[in-house]
Amino acid sequence: MQCAKTVNFNPELDDFFMSTSLSLAPRSSQAVCFLLPPRSFCNNELTFCKLMHSAIVCTNKRRQMGGSVARLGVNIDHVATLRQARGGSEPDPVAAAVLVELAGADGIVVHLREDRRHIQDRDLNLLKDVLQTKLDLEMGADEAMVKVALSVKPHLVTLVPERRQELTTEGGLEVAGQRDRIKGIVDMLHDGGIPVSLFIEPDPAQIKAAHKIAADYVELHTGRYANARRLKEEQAELEAITHAAKLAYKLGMGVNAGHGLTYRNVKRLIQIPEIVEYNIGHSIMARAILVGLDRAVREMKQLVG
Ligand code: PXP
Repeated sequence: MQCAKTVNFNPELDDFFMSTSLSLAPRSSQAVCFLLPPRSFCNNELTFCKLMHSAIVCTNKRRQMGGSVARLGVNIDHVATLRQARGGSEPDPVAAAVLVELAGADGIVVHLREDRRHIQDRDLNLLKDVLQTKLDLEMGADEAMVKVALSVKPHLVTLVPERRQELTTEGGLEVAGQRDRIKGIVDMLHDGGIPVSLFIEPDPAQIKAAHKIAADYVELHTGRYANARRLKEEQAELEAITHAAKLAYKLGMGVNAGHGLTYRNVKRLIQIPEIVEYNIGHSIMARAILVGLDRAVREMKQLVG
């Protein structure tokens, strides 16, 4: 953080940041939970810099205490997929979300798709009411979805590319090639007081474009790393993610990561200190079928932080 060095630090802001972090993550197993301040929450650049500094101070304190800095967001779309398979009401993703939180997750992630193939509007509204941590709404970058987001007011919107035929989100959002259009969507969400994350490939051009349109966070797509079959390929992808995380952090954005992460492959990723949150769905739900949701979440939370 270049500007942090020139700011006169205010201890009250450090305290404010500490207590905000704690209140946003009351169930975290760690003593202090690190959450990068979304740029849109701050009324000017100086405040943002001060909060960033406080975040860095908190992170360093946690490291000295031997703690981790990362948070776990659990994607519960698969619970809704199972419900939709029979068109009934079970299993209820809202009940699952409560169990996920009780097991120590730091947030719940849902993808409201245009075709409503799994998560429904009813789920979203109930989740916003009952969650004790935070709700991250993944959605396509279009105006119809913005309307939904503005009425539900999740704690974070993550914009993702969406194609009707795909099985899951394939590839990151092309921000560099459609900057004006995505900026329009980001601005509408910011006007409604909602911080925005962009799900992008770990590519410097995409990160610089995300910064230019004032994204608060980026979520780095880890699919290529997760799918790598050879060590050399995996190493190259890990380096790309490391480089992308450092660049995004240097530009003042919060850095999340997700897609295809498992109990095995997440271990190398957690070595990247700039990544503050991992969003994981399929692997946790697959394990939950065998060992139970509570244990599956606790085991992943232990790995991540
Ligand atoms: N992050 C984003 C933006 C996603 O679209 C998804 C998949 O819905 C995930 C994380 C979770 O991916 P996975 O289910 O492979 O863990």
